[in-house]
Amino acid sequence: MKNRNLFLLLGLVLIIIQVAHSCKNMPRATQARDAATNYRMFCAGCHGDNLEKFAAKQWMEEAGTASVERSIRNGILDIGMPAFAKTFSDREIKELAGYVKKGIPADRALLKPAVTAEGIVKSEEYNFVIDTVVTGLEVPWGLAFLPNGDLLISERKGTLHTFSNGRLSAPIEGLPPIMAFGQGGLLDLALHPDYDKNSWIYISYSALDTTSEKRTGSTGVMRARLSENKLTDQEILFIGSPATDRGHHWGCKLAFDGKGYLFFGVGERGQHFDFPQRLDNTNGKIHRIHDDGRIPADNPFVNTPGAIKSIYSYGHRNPQGTVIHPTTGDVWETEHGPMGGDELNLIKPGMNYGWPVISYGINYDGTVLTELTEKKEWSSRFSNGHHLSLPVG
Ligand code: HEC
Repeated sequence: MKNRNLFLLLGLVLIIIQVAHSCKNMPRATQARDAATNYRMFCAGCHGDNLEKFAAKQWMEEAGTASVERSIRNGILDIGMPAFAKTFSDREIKELAGYVKKGIPADRALLKPAVTAEGIVKSEEYNFVIDTVVTGLEVPWGLAFLPNGDLLISERKGTLHTFSNGRLSAPIEGLPPIMAFGQGGLLDLALHPDYDKNSWIYISYSALDTTSEKRTGSTGVMRARLSENKLTDQEILFIGSPATDRGHHWGCKLAFDGKGYLFFGVGERGQHFDFPQRLDNTNGKIHRIHDDGRIPADNPFVNTPGAIKSIYSYGHRNPQGTVIHPTTGDVWETEHGPMGGDELNLIKPGMNYGWPVISYGINYDGTVLTELTEKKEWSSRFSNGHHLSLPVG
């Protein structure tokens, strides 16, 4: 009798231990969010509020959600889809996969972009309509107006056209080898400030490293002249280093300051712990060169041993907007930060803009990178996403 009670007691204790243990192993059970909320918080920034940026892909037609779950769990790191294995429980991943698949309408035509040619678009300040000028382009990236009114248009997939009298030219010949992958490809276009005299066209692009067996690349800048439908006099002015296999965070808008300097940004190539805080590589930096590619003698790191001499500022994530203020001549830059951490920066020589040590954003997979963000609330990260940083001193 005594023994039986003891056994019962022991059994009960074991059950309690097991329940307690399984509760502990149930990840974030108490704070589990529904799929719609998780989608809005973690996915909509890239894939659109209404899933409208999902391209029509094989996985949409598949039975079940196994491959979608796999993509969410492991990400597709070389193309910029973050891994969410540490962010969500298995259940949350399953539910998200179901949410994404159910949300894709059978009629793909319903997956319209947020901004369409029809109707009036309402922004905070203005209402506007959109007029379509050129059709048939895939991802137009850079535009430059030639003095005669023709338009030069780059497409990210690696084609360059003129648009003249309502007609798009055949692809212009003479481009260098381009790594058209992910966010990379043919990027920006700019005319030399004295284009009237020298006809130089500047082109930024994802330069394919032809010496590598793997597909790798780094941001490049070249100049050339246009004759008939061909580029001539091609000169490569800048090739970033090291080349990597990543498809994202290349920079690279081109900006002339009117004093003979060319500014442009190169992204950290998706490797934030490797590049932006070190000066021995070109990635995660704003660069300044002369119009012919020479390094200005007073660039901030020309005398720093081991530093890349074209670096003008560092600690950037994906600096994709570069512009010179028309009256002050200041260099302004916008950069894609992590979620909630986009930045508008006034660029000063030699300054460190902080990525990834200081950021107001959090990584897309929900991981907090810095102490600064750790102290903030989720809600404020979402509502107060963009910030302006002016270097002190
Ligand atoms: C930082 C941007 C970004 C975020 C955030 C993001 N994705 Fe993606 N995702 C991508 C890119 C880039 C691709 C690849 C190109 C494409 O398919 O559109 C991709 C692809 C996918 C695919 C297709 C995978 C395949 O096999 O083709 C799925 C499914 C997906 N994402 C789901 C999600 C879900 C669910 C979330 C939120 C938990 C999410 N993504 C968050 C950028 C992102």
